Amino acid sequence: MTERWAPSSWRSKPAKHIPADYPDTAALAQVEDTLRGMPPLVFAGEARRLKSLLGDVANGKAFLLQGGDCAESFKEFSANNIRDTFRLLLQMAVVLTFAGGKPVVKVGRIAGQFAKPRSSPVEVKDGVELPSYRGDNINGMDFTAEERTPDPQRLLRAYGQAASTLNLLRAFATGGYADLHNVHRWTLDFVEGSPQGARYRALSDKIGETLDFMSAVGVTPESHPTLHQVEFFTSHEALLLGFEEAMTRVDSTSSDWYDTSAHLLWIGERTRQLDGAHIEFCKGIKNPIGMKVGPSVEPEELIRLIDALNPANEAGRLTLYGRFGSDKIEARLPALMAATKREGRSVVWATDPMHGNTLTANNGYKTRPFERILSEVKSFIDVARAEGVHPGGVHFEMTGQNVTECLGGARMLSEGDLGDRYHTHCDPRLNADQSLELAFLVAEKLKETQGSGRAQAAE
Ligand code: PEP
Ligand code: CO
Repeated sequence: MTERWAPSSWRSKPAKHIPADYPDTAALAQVEDTLRGMPPLVFAGEARRLKSLLGDVANGKAFLLQGGDCAESFKEFSANNIRDTFRLLLQMAVVLTFAGGKPVVKVGRIAGQFAKPRSSPVEVKDGVELPSYRGDNINGMDFTAEERTPDPQRLLRAYGQAASTLNLLRAFATGGYADLHNVHRWTLDFVEGSPQGARYRALSDKIGETLDFMSAVGVTPESHPTLHQVEFFTSHEALLLGFEEAMTRVDSTSSDWYDTSAHLLWIGERTRQLDGAHIEFCKGIKNPIGMKVGPSVEPEELIRLIDALNPANEAGRLTLYGRFGSDKIEARLPALMAATKREGRSVVWATDPMHGNTLTANNGYKTRPFERILSEVKSFIDVARAEGVHPGGVHFEMTGQNVTECLGGARMLSEGDLGDRYHTHCDPRLNADQSLELAFLVAEKLKETQGSGRAQAAE
């Protein structure tokens, strides 16, 4: 008999990447208690809505676009940053909707994406060893003993930042800012200014013509308020389980447990052990769940993980993000996709083309080449088509700011440019131009391969 699940069940399992060095554990417990009494950030009904939309993705009828910072920070928190990331995701979504001919489900890595797994628990600089930076909700980035000591008060600040971020996102999503015509106008500005503008113009002109046609036949934001609004969801890695536990509540409508810190929570590549704390926690919450799938996963292991997280085989419950690296995806992904298809497991297959393509530039900056990111997305689409699986979505680390963190793109960012505006608190992000370019190039690829591959009728 398995014991009854509770939000705290994970505490009896081995837990990786959760800091054990809080100097005052009583203070941590007190903060978690305070959080238990705070209002939820999202409602269970919204999480169910996202699960149903992801069910459409699993069934080949929609596409997932997920993106945002690798790590949100207290320092970069501002209305402009939130607005620019939101607006960029909308622009990318319009391009992808038009090319794929399917609704795009929009999910931000935002309003709670703070905690990070680190490759080493310590960092050494000039002979001094300190705990690694673990995300602004745990400790600080400056290399001092004081900053690097985990401080539970940071959890309350992160909660507050997530709440005001969500508040602004909700206002943008429903208050008129997200109007389809606005979004298209911004994209036209991008096309005008891009060195590769000619390549993107054909698609953006078609979108413009379609909008004109719609207006001409009376489909306007006034007659169809949905043109004026978008559905937008939030997500983050369910890493810091004490926080997630404190945000988990019984939904009065369904009597089920929901983690109310975000609509979708995912399990990272480093914490997806079958008997570990993170899988245990996610088993019991009814939100849609994601899981990263890296190059070491074998098909049998994948099926066991799927069955642990989605025993009812419910469409939309589980999204898998392949993150292999452009040089490994073609060797690793086909067998995994073939297994989920053969075994009849309903999952969303998406690609995270960021985390397998990180390298250190000669000048020491951690970066990612645009070409490798694009190449992994293209391989993902090719493999999915060949296996008769729906290439369900993309997951990017990106920002609406004009940062210089990833190499390449139409503006051909070079190693020498990286130092200009390198602001990330963790992994390198695509900047606004690189992200939108990628959306155009992925759109091109989706269009090109539509109707190719096996079992297209199932899409
Ligand atoms: C991340 O998404 O920032 C991350 C750490 O990814 P992964 O778990 O795939 O390494
Ligand atoms: Co990252």
